[in-house]
Amino acid sequence: MSPATIITFANQKGGVAKTTTALNLACALAESGHKVLCIDMDPQGNLTMSQGIDPEDLPCSIFDVLVDGIDIREAIYKREIDIAVGSIDLAGAEIALSSKIGRERALSKAIAPIRDDYDFICIDTPPSLGLLTINALTASNKVIVPVQCEYLSMRGLAQLQSTVRMIKEDLNPSLEIEGILPTLVDTRTLHAKEALELLEEHFGDRVFASRIRKTVRFAEAPVRGMSVLKYDPTGTAAGAYRALAEEVLHGR
Ligand SMILES: Nc1ncnc2c1ncn2[C@@H]1O[C@H](COP(=O)(O)OP(=O)(O)OP(=O)(O)O)[C@@H](O)[C@H]1O
Ligand SMILES: [Mg+2]
Repeated sequence: MSPATIITFANQKGGVAKTTTALNLACALAESGHKVLCIDMDPQGNLTMSQGIDPEDLPCSIFDVLVDGIDIREAIYKREIDIAVGSIDLAGAEIALSSKIGRERALSKAIAPIRDDYDFICIDTPPSLGLLTINALTASNKVIVPVQCEYLSMRGLAQLQSTVRMIKEDLNPSLEIEGILPTLVDTRTLHAKEALELLEEHFGDRVFASRIRKTVRFAEAPVRGMSVLKYDPTGTAAGAYRALAEEVLHGR
């Protein structure tokens, strides 16, 4: 098996559907026969929770992997996809890592021994461009940027692009922005339509053709510890992430 494609989901703005996209795209890729690992790099532990695992009650999490060099396999649980769990401890990981040599490469190093075991590794990040997100970007080939289709949400993209550029120059030359994903799209409003046009004007064909519309299914599924693909397999929400998986697999 060739080494996994590693995709980070990043946007320093909160609540733009990073976690929702990491999980549901991962599940759509798994559904189409790929072996997928998700990694929860967010101290909020939302990805971990959305697979029905309590991030406050874990013997070993990605914190122990990053900071104490524990084998990542110790932090992997088997659910709809495999998941390397996050925990609240991660809030202290940036400080714990900051004095270490190779602090930006801790995740990359941790993933190396298992990279051949998966087709895709999907990394969820916190809403910041701090050391945890930098570790994720340094370990990845690709970044997917979920963006809420509102004018103010799009303003922060320049900062993210400049971070990606710096990481590409100094830490990881193979990093590319795979695409920008419009999320929480409310097709009924003129504002959403205008915001989408603006996004396409600025980023052209880097914007995915898939659009993720607003629906309450995305809030309901994590409560059951499931992806929307499992919670409502025939719904439009599941369909949207299957379409995104097709774009990731075969290009736009
Ligand atoms: N398409 C959608 N329609 C409606 N609600 C959605 C949609 N996508 C995500 N949500 C909901 O919006 C909220 C934020 O989503 P999510 O947690 O994925 O964002 P995030 O970018 O990971 O947030 P954070 O920055 O805090 O990590 C969640 O309650 C989620 O269930
Ligand atoms: Mg999140």
